[in-house]
Amino acid sequence: MKLDNISKIFNAHSEEIKALDSVSYEFEKQKFYAIMGHSGSGKTTLINILGLITKPTQGKYYLNDIDVSTLNDEELSRLRMSSIGFIFQDFKLDEHMNALDNVILPMLINKKISPSERVSLAQELLKSVNLDNRLKHFPKELSGGEQQRVAIARALANNPEYIICDEPTGNLDEKNERMVFELLKELTSNGHTIIVVSHSEIVKEFADIVLNLQAGKLSDE
Ligand SMILES: Nc1ncnc2c1ncn2[C@@H]1O[C@H](COP(=O)(O)OP(=O)(O)OP(=O)(O)O)[C@@H](O)[C@H]1O
Ligand SMILES: [Mg+2]
Repeated sequence: MKLDNISKIFNAHSEEIKALDSVSYEFEKQKFYAIMGHSGSGKTTLINILGLITKPTQGKYYLNDIDVSTLNDEELSRLRMSSIGFIFQDFKLDEHMNALDNVILPMLINKKISPSERVSLAQELLKSVNLDNRLKHFPKELSGGEQQRVAIARALANNPEYIICDEPTGNLDEKNERMVFELLKELTSNGHTIIVVSHSEIVKEFADIVLNLQAGKLSDE
């Protein structure tokens, strides 16, 4: 992942907001990055660009050497599905599906995983986050920490190279927070690159690299 002079300007209510201001940075593979910064400093905007959700106003973003500005919407969504897994503060699980089905869901649009493989793969992923005893539970029957672990398993469903997390532990107590960061950290040795936005100082115990955003400017800590 390489950002080359990326800026993002929002025009809202006849005001121009520069959410990102000339950000250049290259993310190394198989590292755990923590992005920290005050509310409104541009963290979500930055990871939404990295995650191919938002397009920058200025600058180039290269994902595995592909200039993503050359891709059409269909190519972008295919690249997003195959390369990026998302984890959010509020888990964003489907309330009407049990843990197993939540993890299977992203596999349904992936031609590389056959229908017969889906269930066993989802079971394996839930086992890897220590939830093999909660497969049939619905989100409301799970604790916050358990729900976030289902979300981690779901983010891994299509084996994406990058896992992008926006405040993944914002709704968790310290014990569950450490568990989530520990699981994410372990993923770097399986080939994944982890990018976590967090307000929590605890993330620094797990991150390989801590970056700071201040008024849309990115810097090493
Ligand atoms: N869609 C939008 N339209 C207009 N302004 C926006 C939009 N999204 C974000 N902004 C503005 O851009 C700035 C950066 O927002 P962003 O959500 O990236 O901050 P953040 O660092 O994630 O904050 P927080 O820690 O509170 O989540 C803010 O001033 C925000 O008001
Ligand atoms: Mg945010």
